[in-house]
Amino acid sequence: EEHGKGDYPHYMLKEICEQPRVLAELLAGKISSGPAGLSLHLPPKVEAVLARARRLRIVGCGTSYHAGLLGKYRIEDLAGRPVEVEIASEFRYREPLLDPASDLLVALTQSGETADTLAALRMAREAGVPTLALVNVPGSTIAREADAVLFLEAGPEFGVAATKTFLAQIALLTLLALHLAPEERLAKKTGLSRQALLSEFLGIPGLLDKSLSLDSSIASLARELAAAPLVLFLGRGADYPLALEGALKFKEITYIHAEGYPGGELKHGPLALVEKETPVIALVSPDPRLLPKMVSNMQETLARGARQSAITARSAFEEMAPLVATELSLPDCSPLFFPILSSVPLQLLAYHTACARGLNVDRPRNLAKSVTVE
Ligand code: G6P
Repeated sequence: EEHGKGDYPHYMLKEICEQPRVLAELLAGKISSGPAGLSLHLPPKVEAVLARARRLRIVGCGTSYHAGLLGKYRIEDLAGRPVEVEIASEFRYREPLLDPASDLLVALTQSGETADTLAALRMAREAGVPTLALVNVPGSTIAREADAVLFLEAGPEFGVAATKTFLAQIALLTLLALHLAPEERLAKKTGLSRQALLSEFLGIPGLLDKSLSLDSSIASLARELAAAPLVLFLGRGADYPLALEGALKFKEITYIHAEGYPGGELKHGPLALVEKETPVIALVSPDPRLLPKMVSNMQETLARGARQSAITARSAFEEMAPLVATELSLPDCSPLFFPILSSVPLQLLAYHTACARGLNVDRPRNLAKSVTVE
């Protein structure tokens, strides 16, 4: 039964619903209430590499690449370390300037078998660059070949569209950012101590139930989207990688064209796509620097007749109300954790839209769970 669909019609829905437990278990193994607070359980040799690495080079494909982008926002912001993120197939076919003295290659992969990600990892190793992999499948090639591994511990994922493993990836990258962040910088950036952030993090799995409880509102929005020719996902800051992931999930299983864009790029092209009734899904983290910027983007799309929805925090209700037809509101929390909550409605939106179109959610056409050949 562990590997069956149980009472769920699809693996994807089962895997979406498992997320509160997956996250709780992942955090329980890393965060303790004692003074040590956070331990990633990495070997001392790897901790030493992490401590001295001046630049992180993240590589991945598909959903894993989007998780990597979010990791960049978090690690650069909190830890003050430069992070480059690259699609593994691009990285491997150029000559990336690798520096064994300062770089750490971080490979993100659910399967641990993606051919391009493996090739990028091997390139780094050949250049003498230390490697860390975030992998879900124990015993996979990348898990065996990397110098150190952080396991996603999400359990087997059968739906072709990654869901719980994306959540585990962004949670682990957030932990890595917290691990690397100097206490003073953390306090300056978030207004909170590491201890306070860690204890808030432990409460996030409970809040995921609230994300899941948006299911029926999302299902009705999905019925509206089922006939749309295009859906536009917008976000700024860490919501931008989520917009990309929301659009990817959507096109993978609904076969509807979707674009993910940073709000600030709207005027540089995608605004031309917006006409009466164009669906726009805005991701709006409760980040006081970004919220007013997203509001003005949403005014621009509304003025062109967009049919807007916002995935936002309850406290942003007043700003959102005049702009949206559907508000999917989530509990308030530190902006650091908000993408974890908002990834769930994006998954449910893709899921219900695909169901409304009568599609095979778990096995989308032309796609494979693991791309082991080029
Ligand atoms: C395939 C899957 C995606 C996945 C990507 C990378 O395209 O369909 O869901 O994000 O491969 O896979 P990985 O196992 O390396 O994360």
